[in-house]
Amino acid sequence: MIQIAIDGPSGAGKSTVAKAVAKQLGIIYVDTGALYRTIGYYVRQKGVDPKDAAGVEALLPEIQVELKYENGTQIVSLNGEDLGDRIRTPEISMYASAVSAIPAVRTFLLETQQDIARRNSVIMDGRDIGTVILPNADVKIFLTASDECRATRRRDELVAKGMNVTYEEVLADMQKRDRDDSTRAVAPAVAAEDAILLDNSWMTPEESTEAVIRLVKEKTGK
Ligand code: DC
Repeated sequence: MIQIAIDGPSGAGKSTVAKAVAKQLGIIYVDTGALYRTIGYYVRQKGVDPKDAAGVEALLPEIQVELKYENGTQIVSLNGEDLGDRIRTPEISMYASAVSAIPAVRTFLLETQQDIARRNSVIMDGRDIGTVILPNADVKIFLTASDECRATRRRDELVAKGMNVTYEEVLADMQKRDRDDSTRAVAPAVAAEDAILLDNSWMTPEESTEAVIRLVKEKTGK
């Protein structure tokens, strides 16, 4: 069993790299942001302000979030329904970031994340994997890149999905979200003390993946 934690700000390429590493190593990729996005989606659907901690907390008993894997692909379901790309819009990104600052939401999702890592070898990406979820992970990487590189990548990704966004909008949203995620009181998005910092601004996705695989081999001898 192996546990690899990948944390870092949005648009650093965590999911692209983690997916490729999972495939090469034959382990499961867990996208934890999808869990917060699912809660954000429900909160929006109910018309609740995502910053209203008491209002959001009151909705949690109505929510069942499940993680499943089909042919190595993660499916997150909300009360039995797979939401697909509906959780990937810029608006839901903001909802996810807001609800993720609420301690009850983090507690609500903790067991789902730790349980999957207990039963499987995983590479898990998020903001607090190395600090809170898997503090004893075999390898911890904090993946980052310049704001400009990250915003360009995120814009290209959203445009490829048919969304009508500009570079400036994406950059502003991303910087706000990163500021909120890294300065919140609970489980802020910071590198664990024993995390290896990897700046992939000038790396291709393949180079980032190779760099992570190399670090995993160095750390684990596998
Ligand atoms: O990785 P992502 O962009 O899909 O994450 C969406 C939001 O969820 C992000 O702005 C912060 C929050 N999040 C978190 O607080 N902790 C995690 N482990 C993963 C995501």
